[in-house]
Amino acid sequence: MQEQLKSMEAEALAALEAVESLDALEEWRTTYLGRRGRLSQVLRGLGALPVEERPAAGQAANEVKARLDAAYEARRAALERGAKEQAFRAERVDVTLPGRPPSLGRLHIATQTLREIYAIFGQMGFEVYEAPEVESDELNFQALNIPPHHPARDMWSTFYTDREGVVLRTHTSPGQMRLMRERCPAGIRAIVPGKVYRYEQVSARYEFQLHQVEGLAVGRNIHMSDLKGVLVAFAQQMFQGTRRWRFRGSYFPFTEPSFEMDIACVLCGGGGCRVCKYSGWVEILGAGMVHPVVLQNGGYDPAAYSGFAFGMGSERITMLKYGIDDIRLFFGNDPRFLAQFG
Ligand code: DAH
Repeated sequence: MQEQLKSMEAEALAALEAVESLDALEEWRTTYLGRRGRLSQVLRGLGALPVEERPAAGQAANEVKARLDAAYEARRAALERGAKEQAFRAERVDVTLPGRPPSLGRLHIATQTLREIYAIFGQMGFEVYEAPEVESDELNFQALNIPPHHPARDMWSTFYTDREGVVLRTHTSPGQMRLMRERCPAGIRAIVPGKVYRYEQVSARYEFQLHQVEGLAVGRNIHMSDLKGVLVAFAQQMFQGTRRWRFRGSYFPFTEPSFEMDIACVLCGGGGCRVCKYSGWVEILGAGMVHPVVLQNGGYDPAAYSGFAFGMGSERITMLKYGIDDIRLFFGNDPRFLAQFG
């Protein structure tokens, strides 16, 4: 029996050497160590031995079993390690490859311009005041000295809503009225930026949505010269290098007197080009001294208080500054356009 055990052990160990996979190892275990395996078969002969030989044979069999168990465990550990290493090799990541940078995006050019405008007026002590885009007819028009059915309403193509007396604001000027009614009798120095809506046929020159920046100063002894100084300081910072400007008499129902400000065309320098329609001048904003009726509607006594106001379209400012010839680009969402700024 000892002989049998020895040769079985040698055979088992040799077979184990050839085992190359965990599946084959399991098969090997069944063959040699399983309940009906080779070792069990040998042990079954134990009962046939003379009684005095049984203990030695039994002990030898236990020793063989212990060695085969140990060999099995060692092989299993080696195979598992190998499998892991192979997996690591197969899934290896080259950490020296350059990364893929995430694209960070940028502020829309309309936002960039608005922020530039805030900064310039901020230096001159103007606060930023926000007012709603859905507005009452009263504040968008009537309180600003534009009565119902007055021809001056034709200056704005208006989106009326199916709610009586509610419009999409056509300009940021109703912000003036909100400011005055909120602050009276305190002094005011504020800009009101935001989106406005116009019932327009969209084209290279007209959009149905755009941004405006309103300006308002109210106090005692505010004069036209203050307004001019503020506007010139603004234009010189916004359009660096601007040396020439002019104020041209105009009409707005909420200011008296009213004017528009032109600067020498930023593209041709005043020589004449397509952008300035060969006049050498481009209009950048409307302005004036706050009409007494408007001051009164805001709660201020026009005999004691005065004010100035102005309003500009910020897309227009951006277009002039960069020579953009189609206003639809601002809401077109074309990254080829947007990526050119910032
Ligand atoms: N609200 C005018 C517009 O939409 C712009 C404007 C002109 C605003 C003169 C003003 C101003 O405050 O004084 O066309």
